[in-house]
Amino acid sequence: MKQIVPSFFSSSSLLIYRLLAIFLCISPTQSTFSVKIGNDVLSQICAQTEDRNSCLKALQSNPRTASTDLYGLAQISINLANATASETRTKIKSKLGQTTDPNLYDQYLKCLESYVNAVSKINYANGRWSIKDFLALEAAASDCLIEINTCKGVTTPAWPFLPQQNDKSHLLCNIMSTVAKRLAAGNN
Ligand SMILES: *[C@@H]1O[C@H](CO)[C@@H](O)[C@H](O)[C@H]1NC(C)=O
Repeated sequence: MKQIVPSFFSSSSLLIYRLLAIFLCISPTQSTFSVKIGNDVLSQICAQTEDRNSCLKALQSNPRTASTDLYGLAQISINLANATASETRTKIKSKLGQTTDPNLYDQYLKCLESYVNAVSKINYANGRWSIKDFLALEAAASDCLIEINTCKGVTTPAWPFLPQQNDKSHLLCNIMSTVAKRLAAGNN
């Protein structure tokens, strides 16, 4: 009896270890990040932003949104914010070259600075995203919002393009921040 019991236990625990090893080998691909985003979760996320409908429209403009998980959605939002902020920066730069009014020139210059910083925050956010540092990603998204607000504050709407781009850029950084918050909370 003394010999049977230990060998029974050791062989059954060996079996458990083997099953555990197999399970662990399979499970990493099924981690929390691989859950596909459904329309309900997408609506939930967008409802937490400043403009639900424009948020849905922006995210759904990328075909990858239909098949991605929350982690992938974060990068889609980073890419969207990057594209709009970069486009705005380029347009302000060319507008600046055509502006002779010194007061207006100052305002555009401040906005250019804001957008140079915003684009840099967004690209920094992308680096944080790639190492899954979601708190830093969220902080970078907040910094982006602050930069856009700075331009919003200094602008007289002498150029209709700018308020429109400010709103769009602000929303896209707001989406980034909302998705980052959700990732940071482990709420996938
Ligand atoms: C942002 O856009 C620039 C220029 O289009 C590109 O070089 C850069 O890789 C983009 N970064 C991200 C994070 O999308």
